[in-house]
Amino acid sequence: MDKFVIRGGNPLVGTVRISGAKNSALPCMAAAILTEEEVILENIPQVRDIETERKLLVAMGAEVELGTGTADHRTRINFRTLSNPEAKYEIVKTMRATSLVLGPLVARAGMARVAMPGGCAIGGRPIDLHIKGLEKMGATIAQEHGYLEARASKLKGAHIVFDKITVTGTEDLLMAAVLADGETLMENCAREPEVTDLAALLTAMGAKIEGAGTSIIRVHGVTSLKGAHYRINPDRIEAGTFLVAGAITAGDLTVADCNPDHLGALIAKLTEAGASVEVLGSDSVRVLSNGKLKAADISTEEYPGFPTDMQAQYMALATQADGVSIVKENIFENRFMHVQELVRMGANIKVDGHTATVRGPAPLSAAAVMCSDLRASASLVLAALVADGESILDRVYHMDRGYERIEQKLESVGAQIRRMGNVFG
Ligand code: EPZ
Repeated sequence: MDKFVIRGGNPLVGTVRISGAKNSALPCMAAAILTEEEVILENIPQVRDIETERKLLVAMGAEVELGTGTADHRTRINFRTLSNPEAKYEIVKTMRATSLVLGPLVARAGMARVAMPGGCAIGGRPIDLHIKGLEKMGATIAQEHGYLEARASKLKGAHIVFDKITVTGTEDLLMAAVLADGETLMENCAREPEVTDLAALLTAMGAKIEGAGTSIIRVHGVTSLKGAHYRINPDRIEAGTFLVAGAITAGDLTVADCNPDHLGALIAKLTEAGASVEVLGSDSVRVLSNGKLKAADISTEEYPGFPTDMQAQYMALATQADGVSIVKENIFENRFMHVQELVRMGANIKVDGHTATVRGPAPLSAAAVMCSDLRASASLVLAALVADGESILDRVYHMDRGYERIEQKLESVGAQIRRMGNVFG
């Protein structure tokens, strides 16, 4: 298993370019199930979760071309034939987002056999809201041997009110609704930019959707969808992670190829914490910091609130801020896996249920630490960038799920970081 070796102390200076959003690419690739024509997606990040999704779609019968050259961020997907509407456990257990194929499979093939995702490091990750929505649209769903079997000769439009705001639940049912008979009204929808991205692709394919990006989405079902050529959004969480990196290292970092409109909550919080953050036009943000940071509380909320996917990264910054920062995690039940590793590096953090109290500034010393999930890993990288000495981060495959070539990007702006293959294979 690969490790990162990071020597702390260098301010990050220069410009880093953001890749496409993993959490847009995953639903947009699944949307190709809905048509027999070719779907071409640009700005696809080269990360492990995308490769996992490629394997999943190929196993269903798709032809999927995925660029591997450093400049090639395009995927071509063709579901001329859908021979096997199934998502096997071997793939689902490595990536929960495979539940996103449930809605499109039932819409296209009238049936789906999808392994229940099971939990992951950050929580139980149920999909009961996906199931309830599909049942309202007329699907019958059986659960046995760890698999969901959904069937519907033809989904019909329904009025769906989500008990909780769910990003992939909104996306999954949006993809079910676009080919359903009649109109679907969905309320209490997720407003994340990734939902809007998916809706834009579906519209380009011929879907009739109103209200994407708001909590009320109305869909008029159509009989078929055509192919499309679409460019997905930049990754707002990767952009946010680098903005925190610039602030925590007392650097002067420009984050380019991003969308500042998706970063409002984070930019406001970094400014409150004493960094100077400047939006440069429509695709760049510059962060400047003298290293003197002030404590500021966060409470994770659905978009446009402070993103749960930025909580771990912000906590690393809070360990260096002067004062007490309260970090409240409202979305997932177990998203403090990074805390113990940060404490091992010298951070002063106390957890009580869904609230962490961070006292700073606490000088961090380099250590051997363990990555546990995608964003916790990012938090440990940020801490290592300011820790005194050389840290070793193990199990960086968690990082590789959602960050494209992060060590090259960090090194290009002054970080001392290198990847070490496990000498024992
Ligand atoms: C998406 O996960 C993202 N993943 C997550 O990013 C992100 O953290 C999350 O949204 C919240 O923003 C993708 O888009 C692929 P939810 P998702 O359904 O859709 C509960 C990352 O780091 N819930 O919005 O799975 C659920 O347990 C990943 O890139 C139900 O109870 O999250 C959670 O408490 C991690 N029943 C809350 O809702 C359901 O049927 C929000 O979950 C569905 C969800």
